[in-house]
Amino acid sequence: MTDDNLSVLITGASRGLGRALAEELAGKGARVVLVARGRDEVERAAHEIRASGGEAHALAYDVADKEAAHKIAGAAAALVGPIDLLVHNASTLGPVPMPTLLDTACEDLAAVLETNLVGPFRLTKIIAGSMLLRQRGTVLFVSSDAAVEAYAGWGAYSVSKAAADHLARVFAAELPGVRFVSVDPGEMDTQMHAAALPNADPATLARPADVARLIASLVRRDNIESGARLTASALARHGRAA
Ligand SMILES: NC(=O)c1ccc[n+]([C@@H]2O[C@H](COP(=O)([O-])OP(=O)(O)OC[C@H]3O[C@@H](n4cnc5c(N)ncnc54)[C@H](OP(=O)(O)O)[C@@H]3O)[C@@H](O)[C@H]2O)c1
Repeated sequence: MTDDNLSVLITGASRGLGRALAEELAGKGARVVLVARGRDEVERAAHEIRASGGEAHALAYDVADKEAAHKIAGAAAALVGPIDLLVHNASTLGPVPMPTLLDTACEDLAAVLETNLVGPFRLTKIIAGSMLLRQRGTVLFVSSDAAVEAYAGWGAYSVSKAAADHLARVFAAELPGVRFVSVDPGEMDTQMHAAALPNADPATLARPADVARLIASLVRRDNIESGARLTASALARHGRAA
């Protein structure tokens, strides 16, 4: 697939990694739909992409909202055509500072799962059917090292990311012809990182634009198997080796 022939839907695209991915892909000619809850911020992000010559459309929805899933999918297909690349990037940490599991309310765990797991599941169910029919498409889950490492205090978020990784693997086993991939972007200088670890030195963190370039490059590669779990650092090594 080349980016100039790509219809893309990215959740959580008003700032941070999602916005950087939208800019990167639109800059290469993709038609991009950006989703986030805050209307002003997501519309501003799409406007700025259009001002730089890209095609971008904003949709203000909450991915955890059951009623929103068909509206997002329907509006996106109407705006840019059948989706070729669906990026599940929107995510929540849950309450911050993040409590240990014993101090996590069941309702807070459920809310994290709604945003990070059930919302992406719903949207995938709606969109992957068309990809299957066309035998074309990638569903990319933005993961985290917390999906594989057990960090004290990261319980709800970690569990949601581990489950989303496995969701991608099972979808991959069930839907040949559609590619499911999860990618750990590594630590980036974003609002989410500042909320989780306010004392981190931003100079030690990756810039979302650099990570977005690496993630966008994998969409163009046809040697990545469906069900794979990748890391941005491995993608960077591959880029240097290529
Ligand atoms: N930053 C890191 O170091 C790091 C490390 C590992 C993994 N990640 C992963 O990378 C991804 C991007 O994170 P980030 O750091 O770029 O976060 P961020 O800067 O906080 O941006 C999050 C984006 O998601 C949107 N969003 C949040 N909840 C949403 C919901 N329920 N429905 C729709 N949109 C929603 C936000 O806009 P609204 O608030 O307006 O909705 C915003 O556009 C996440 O999946 C995160 O888990 C990040």
